Amino acid sequence: MNTKPILEVQNLGKSYGGVRAVNDLSFSINRGEIVGLIGPNGAGKTTSFNTIAGAEKPTTGEVFLEGVKVTGRSTEQLYHMGLSRTFQLSQEYPKMTALENLMVACKSQPGENILMNWLYPKLVNKRETEVVQKSKETLEFLGLTHVADELAENLSGGQKKLLELGRTMMADAKLILLDEPGAGVNPTLMQKIGDMIIDLNQNRGYTFCLIEHDMQLIERLCHRIIVLAEGQILLEGSMEEIRNNTKVVDAYFGSAEA
Ligand SMILES: Nc1ncnc2c1ncn2[C@@H]1O[C@H](COP(=O)(O)OP(=O)(O)O)[C@@H](O)[C@H]1O
Ligand SMILES: [Mg+2]
Repeated sequence: MNTKPILEVQNLGKSYGGVRAVNDLSFSINRGEIVGLIGPNGAGKTTSFNTIAGAEKPTTGEVFLEGVKVTGRSTEQLYHMGLSRTFQLSQEYPKMTALENLMVACKSQPGENILMNWLYPKLVNKRETEVVQKSKETLEFLGLTHVADELAENLSGGQKKLLELGRTMMADAKLILLDEPGAGVNPTLMQKIGDMIIDLNQNRGYTFCLIEHDMQLIERLCHRIIVLAEGQILLEGSMEEIRNNTKVVDAYFGSAEA
């Protein structure tokens, strides 16, 4: 069994002009963990995800996925290696149905390759059938079967969040980075998304790192929490350790002297 951390971030930095959004950030995530990334607005959480998941090139530092250096690789390359992420704002294709949104997320769709289609029509057909099957199973897992043929633009905010989670599942992701899965979601759905994350973690071997402001969700899901402030790690530990640390309170609310 591979005992290397699934993700290792070393001295990661990202600057925008004079703004150091992420500053010398180092941490690792082990297989099977659910790690929370919290911190006040502007702490650099989303930028960390962007630089780890290939959406932006880091200014400094390295990223390793299962021991392989992947710094600067594209989102698509990383997706195929098993690193998947969701966005603070859902990013579905509005004019495709829910089912189609999952199908296009799938690893490879040889049917789109005309040459493949011509050379190996049977193989392509079989693959497409598998993709449809997997998309349907994923919709069922998400409780979205009833809206399979609905255009994504007509789904509710919560349903879009679920679809977003579903798209990460289509790639057999090993590590999923979730950016505020609970944002704009009602408490019932929040509960459900939490259940799904736990199910995926315990029964399907997914590892998670999630950014979230809802501390109840963080406490319920996370084995370990990393607190970011001003692009750096302020503290790392259990919910209990974080709750009782005055540095964290200061980072969120400003210290008395400030
Ligand atoms: N594309 C960008 N251009 C310039 N500054 C940015 C950009 N993205 C983020 N920042 C800045 O980087 C800092 C961290 O932002 P962000 O990573 O979005 O924080 P968080 O997700 O923790 O709220 C903020 O000061 C923000 O204004
Ligand atoms: Mg953010």
